[in-house]
Parts: sequence; C-alpha cells; structure tokens
Amino acid sequence: MSLNLTNRPRRARTSAAMRRLTREIEVRPSQLILPVFVRDGSDAPAPIDSMPGVSQHTLDSLAALASDVASAGLGGIMLFGVPTEDDKDATGSAGLAEDGILNRALARVRSEVGDATVVMADTCLDEFTDHGHCGVLTSEGRIDNDASVARYVEMAIAQAAAGAHVVGPSGMMDGQVGAIRAGLDRAGYDDVAILAYSAKYASAFFGPFRDAVGSSLEGDRRTYQQDPANRREGAYEAALDIAEGADAVMVKPAGYYLDVLADVAADSPVPVAAYQVSGEYAMVEAAARNGWIERERVIAESLTSIVRAGADLVLSYWALEAPAHLAASY
Ligand code: PBG
Repeated sequence: MSLNLTNRPRRARTSAAMRRLTREIEVRPSQLILPVFVRDGSDAPAPIDSMPGVSQHTLDSLAALASDVASAGLGGIMLFGVPTEDDKDATGSAGLAEDGILNRALARVRSEVGDATVVMADTCLDEFTDHGHCGVLTSEGRIDNDASVARYVEMAIAQAAAGAHVVGPSGMMDGQVGAIRAGLDRAGYDDVAILAYSAKYASAFFGPFRDAVGSSLEGDRRTYQQDPANRREGAYEAALDIAEGADAVMVKPAGYYLDVLADVAADSPVPVAAYQVSGEYAMVEAAARNGWIERERVIAESLTSIVRAGADLVLSYWALEAPAHLAASY
C-alpha cells in the first residue's frame, strides 16, 4: 500500500546530484579566517597542549603560514601576540609598541601577503597586561572603561601603521568602536576597517585560548563580557557597534550562540562574523582522539551550522583544512 501524499520532501534527497541542487548554503574558503598566535622570543613553533594541532608561531613560521592562508584563498588571518612575561605591565604597553610582538608580526605578515588576503589584528590588552584583564584598572582594581578605550585607540593606530587591513577590538568596553573609528580617521587610516567583537560572552569556551596566549588572568571578565543568559543583549551590542561605525560585527563563541548569531544577522546591514573559539575546537579534537566522533565530518558540520545560522565570515582554527572536509561532506 502506498500513502497518497502531496508532499514527499525526500524527493530532494534522492541522489548526490539532487542534494547538491537543493542545498541552501555552502561554506566558501573566502569566508574563513584563520586565527594565529605569534610568540615573542621563540625560535621554534611551540605546540599548545589544550589545542592539539595549533602552535604558538615564530615570526618565520607565521610568515609561512600566512602565505599558505593566501594561497588557499582564505578570507583572512587574525593575529594574536604572546609577549614575554617580562614585557607585560599594568597597561599592556607591549601591545602598543611598534617593536611589540604583535606589531612586528603584522608588519611581517603584511609584507609577506600584501593584499592577497586580509590581515587582521586582535585589538585588546589582555595578552599584554600583567593582570590579564582586557583593559586598564583603577586604583581599586576595577576596570576603567574610558581609560581602556583610550589605550585601544592608540593600539589600533599602531596596528594600522604596522600594516593591518582590519582591527578587531575585542575588549567589550563601551564606546570602543566609535573611539577607534575617530582615532583611525584622525591618523589618516580611514580605509582601515573595524571588525567589532560585538556580542562577546563571558565564556568558559575560551579556556584553551588562555593557555595559548599564556594569560595572566585570575578571576573572570564578567563585568565587561556578556552574560551567557542574555540573548536580546547580543543584538543590542551589535546595533551599538554598527551605529559607532563597525564595518563588520562578530558573535563569539559561535556554535553555542547560534540564536544570538541569527538575531544579529537578521538585522545587520554589515557583514556578520562568528568566532568558533578554542573550546569548540578542543572538544572536537579531544573526542576525535578518543575515536568517539568522526573528526572531519564534525568540523564540516560545525562550520556549516554557523554559516546556516547567518554568519558571513567565520574565524576557525580549522580554516586551512576545512575546505577539504567541507567538499568531502557534500
Ligand atoms: C581577547 C580574546 C579572547 C579570545 C579572542 N580574543 C580571550 C578572552 O576574551 O578571554 C578567545 C578566542 C578563543 O577562545 O579561541 N583578546
């Protein structure tokens, strides 16, 4: 007996060709951005225990990687600096210095790739402060929002001078995007874009990243990063950054915040990025090492889900290998 059905959605799934024809989205390499860590004073790449497959790079290994990013046709590369312990201070000076590790890395990468891919910089003090917070502190040890923003402005200008096409303020201070936009423009960098980490949550999924950058943080970031319970606030933060001049807005983490991502994407006149963070990476790698999941299929599915939810751009530690896994998954 057969059912007298009007609708048989399975017809669209009958063959690989039919599935290809009816597929709603595909993740393009040009949407992917590779985050990388570069460490001062090292002469060989140092593997990061909690992020198997990811290393802290030397300037030389970073330059080679940047050239791979460009030849793979990826959208961009996002640089994070890891200074020596000696170079950390209360106000994160090494993050602003022209000869600080991040600015040297930007200059090196930019001279390596030119305009073949987009060179981005994390614009935040946490890697460079001896207390590990994203901003500067008052004498009572609280975050000083406005003083932190003033540091970010100088940092963004230094990054633009070093060769960044895009600065990525990630400190979650109020008013940071508008101040950086004005500062860049005043300094003559009106064509340097701002990718704002707009909806950034106080997330335990950043755990492995703190190892990756040798973070000095004790305590947490809950007075500036968002409460994971707040959905509406994500779209609010993105709207504020757009009004302040952000060229693109970001939601972070990605995979556990797809509702926030979809909300932001529904309303945003500018491209929306999502950051698949260190913890999202580490969990998959750990389970795969135990043989509990199919690593490549999970990588492809996780990225597909993030783009399906509305991301135009995705930062992922798998950016270089992902295109192959995505192609195999279709
Ligand atoms: C701040 C910054 C962080 C990450 C990116 N930029 C850490 C934090 O806010 O604590 C996390 C990225 C990741 O977990 O992969 N400079």
